[in-house]
Parts: sequence; structure tokens; C-alpha cells
Amino acid sequence: MTKFIDSSYVKDLCDITFSSYDHGWDERNGGNVSIRLTEEEVARFEDIHDVTRVYELGFDAKELAGQYFLVTASGRYFRNVIKRPDVDAGLVRITEDGQKAEVHWGFTDGAWPTSEFPTHLMSHIARLKVDPGQRVVMHCHPTNFIALSFTQDLDERKLSRLLWKMQAESLVVFPEGVGIIPYMTPGTNEIGEATAAKMAEYKVVMWPHHGIFAVGGDPDETFGLIETVEKAALIYSQICAQGGQIKQDITDEQLHELADAFGVVGNPKFLD
Ligand code: 13P
Ligand code: ZN
Repeated sequence: MTKFIDSSYVKDLCDITFSSYDHGWDERNGGNVSIRLTEEEVARFEDIHDVTRVYELGFDAKELAGQYFLVTASGRYFRNVIKRPDVDAGLVRITEDGQKAEVHWGFTDGAWPTSEFPTHLMSHIARLKVDPGQRVVMHCHPTNFIALSFTQDLDERKLSRLLWKMQAESLVVFPEGVGIIPYMTPGTNEIGEATAAKMAEYKVVMWPHHGIFAVGGDPDETFGLIETVEKAALIYSQICAQGGQIKQDITDEQLHELADAFGVVGNPKFLD
């Protein structure tokens, strides 16, 4: 008998992890998600239990003291979360001193949070400073977006403009553009710090030759953001497959009109 049905966020986690796998963005254990939950949402977990295990974070997360996160487990497959969320994901609470995470639900066969938990928590901290509605951090390996990190300059202005000009939705969905960090070793505090620094300005950060980090106020919005970025990258791949010659695209004037029509502010550093 499943015990997780009272939390709609567990269902959302199952939905976005499986959809991401189904899109081909999560080979093997690729990808991870964290969702910040309120105490009222946590109270809806039927089998919430006292702390059974405590996990050393390895950095200071005091700004998130007392906060709960539903998070995928390290080494587990997105393909499987839908079948056994209480095994391949868990609910943790950040301790008052900000040094540890207590396991309150899930991880039932002894798993731990994702190896990218430093980047997730540091990104939550950075985003909460600019968006009090910040809830979700998602990482995955979208094929066409990763491919751009080989063929394009790692230049935020150039990459953002390329993606904006591939379809009308791009500017509307990510008007800030896309942040880029240098290639770095995953799973480290250093890549977490570099990513979080970008998150002060962007909701999407490219990890060259690896994948994407995206944030949002709910699972659908965050997943939709990744879908939109990857769709723009896919259109560019198709353009290259069709010979690569662009005869016309969305002009800067049209980008300005789009921003006005949808009430968004395109990043002025990137719009001419
Ligand atoms: P985890 O299995 O630890 O979540 O790592 C997957 C991944 O994509 C690393 O960047
Ligand atoms: Zn990864």
C-alpha cells in the first residue's frame, strides 16, 4: 500500500522525473530535482517519521534552517522514481545550525540526497533572495542544449540571443536569458557556488558539456522552462541539419514587440 498519496508534490516529482527521462534527458542516474515544501505540505505526508538519519551537508546552509526539501536520491534513475518514490527520493529538513539534513521520509533503502545537493541548496538560497515564491531546482541533461556548449562560444549574450531567436516563446519564458558557468567538476561545492552566483540573475544556467540547472515556483513551471530552452536548442540543431543557413529570423525589433506584448522585460544587456 503506497503511503505517499497525500502529498501532491510527490506526484509532481514522479511526473517531472518520468517526463524528463521520457524526453531523453536522464540516461542512467542523470538528473536531480529538489522541491521546497511548507510545513503544511509536510503535514500531509501520511508516514512522516522522526529523524532516522542525519546527513552532513558539507557547507553552511543556515539560510535554509528549518526548511523541508523533497529531493531525488543520488545514483538512482529518474526512470524509476515514478515506481518507487519513497525509495528513490526523500524528504529532508535542514537543521537549525544549517550544517546537516535530517531524513524525515523516503530514502527507505538507505539512499542519500543527490550529489548535486550543494548546488540545489545554494541555488534555492540565491533565488529566494530575488523570488520569495522560489520552490523548485531541477537538473538534467538535455541533448541539444548540451550540444550547443561544443559548437557555440560560452558567451551568455550570444547564447541567449541565439535561443531567443529560435522561437517566439523563448523571450517570454526566459526574458533574463541564460547564464553560463565554465566547465567544472560536478558534485562539488565549487560548482554549487558558481551556479548559485548565476542564479541571482538567471533562472537557467548552462553547465557546459554536462547539462542544465533551472529554477521555478512550481514543478510544472520549472519543467516547462527546461522544455522551452531545449526546444529552442533543438530548432537550432534542425537548422544545422538542414544546411545551417538562416535566411530570416526573429529581429530585435520583434523581440522588443514580444516583450511589450507579454509584459516581460528582456535582459537589456542582450537586447539591441
Ligand atoms: P546524482 O545521481 O547524484 O543525482 O547525480 C546525477 C547527475 O546528473 C550528476 O550531475
Ligand atoms: Zn548531471
